[in-house]
Amino acid sequence: MYDVNEIRRDFPILSREVNGRPLVYFDNGASAQKPRAVIDAITHSYCQEYSNVHRGLHFLSNLMTDRYEAVRGKIGRFLNAAHENEIVMNSGTTEGINMVAYGWAMPRMEAGDEIILTVMEHHANIVPWHFLRERLGVRLVWIDIDDDGHLDPQRVLDAITPRTRLIAVSHVSNVLGTRVDVKAISEGARARGVPVLVDGSQAAMHMRVDVRDIGCDFYTITGHKLYGPSGSGAIYCRSERMAEMSPFLGGGIMIKEVHKDRISWNDPPLKFEAGTPPIVQMIGLGVAIEYLDTLGMAAIERHETALRDYAVSRFGDVERLRLQGTTSDKAGIFSFTLEGAAHAHDISTVLDKKGVAVRAGHHCAGPLMERLGLTATCRASFGLYNTMDEIDVMIEALELAQDLFG
Ligand code: ALA
Repeated sequence: MYDVNEIRRDFPILSREVNGRPLVYFDNGASAQKPRAVIDAITHSYCQEYSNVHRGLHFLSNLMTDRYEAVRGKIGRFLNAAHENEIVMNSGTTEGINMVAYGWAMPRMEAGDEIILTVMEHHANIVPWHFLRERLGVRLVWIDIDDDGHLDPQRVLDAITPRTRLIAVSHVSNVLGTRVDVKAISEGARARGVPVLVDGSQAAMHMRVDVRDIGCDFYTITGHKLYGPSGSGAIYCRSERMAEMSPFLGGGIMIKEVHKDRISWNDPPLKFEAGTPPIVQMIGLGVAIEYLDTLGMAAIERHETALRDYAVSRFGDVERLRLQGTTSDKAGIFSFTLEGAAHAHDISTVLDKKGVAVRAGHHCAGPLMERLGLTATCRASFGLYNTMDEIDVMIEALELAQDLFG
């Protein structure tokens, strides 16, 4: 039984007020709040167990190394990877995609090769590919969405040519909430010998992710959106791709031997984890994943689907509200504007006065904003602890904003 009121008590920050009102936190797409179990695990690590990992022989170093390495297994099981060694631990999706761009794509691409992207990618899944466009002359091929935000997987597959070297696509749009059928894309691409990278930064906290079922080659996750600490994350790399990849960051631990005139690399995945990693952050992420496992991703998805459906019905009450992304297959992420009213920043300021936290701006999705013909939207993104009552508070605040700016 999913008791949201009981779950809310696990998150200390949810009991605070903002501007004299109970906090309504709808900025989960930017970063999610942390359960006490994660906060306590961080404190415990620093108070009782802290040391560096992989490089000491003393008690604390061995203990921390065990704790850190155990997280690799937890992430592997969370994503249903074939083996935990297919998981590279890092600071999150941005680092993961840059690693693939520099370590896997750059050495094997040349001028005229093509990378397929969609117009609704986040900058983290755009800018690293622009580096390849600028430096190598790689061509970026942009796939459009339907007006309701739906992405037809066939459109992606139809864009494959003999020069296509990679498809890089979000699992869930951070602006529209659109869920992309990454399984259909991966199946079709695999049949044509094209690897697929899935940016799972906005997906893994909303639904069960199974990388083997999806059949992708790379899948990124971001710890701070998964109710874990910032600075934590991981990328799943199918073992064949991992074997093809060169190191991206150089430094300690990713080497086997270093001499003045030659060098050899550690085995993957450590080959891709240079320097002291985000040790305690990763341990916190491991606890966050255990927390999600305890609630059950299927139960979280059911709860958020109910919130999404309720929000759709309530948004209809705000006369001049225009939703972006109305496809039925979407996560609880809503971007909107108030027609004829003030800028999204002003609307978010009115919401803030009522204790409601949303993000306003371009959401690091320039090509999508161009596609929508907008410079900014307000975005409400739901998490596992949100309630229908909170949606009512937001709708009331939006009605106020409509009256103020009308
Ligand atoms: N990528 C995060 C967002 O969409 C920061 O807000």
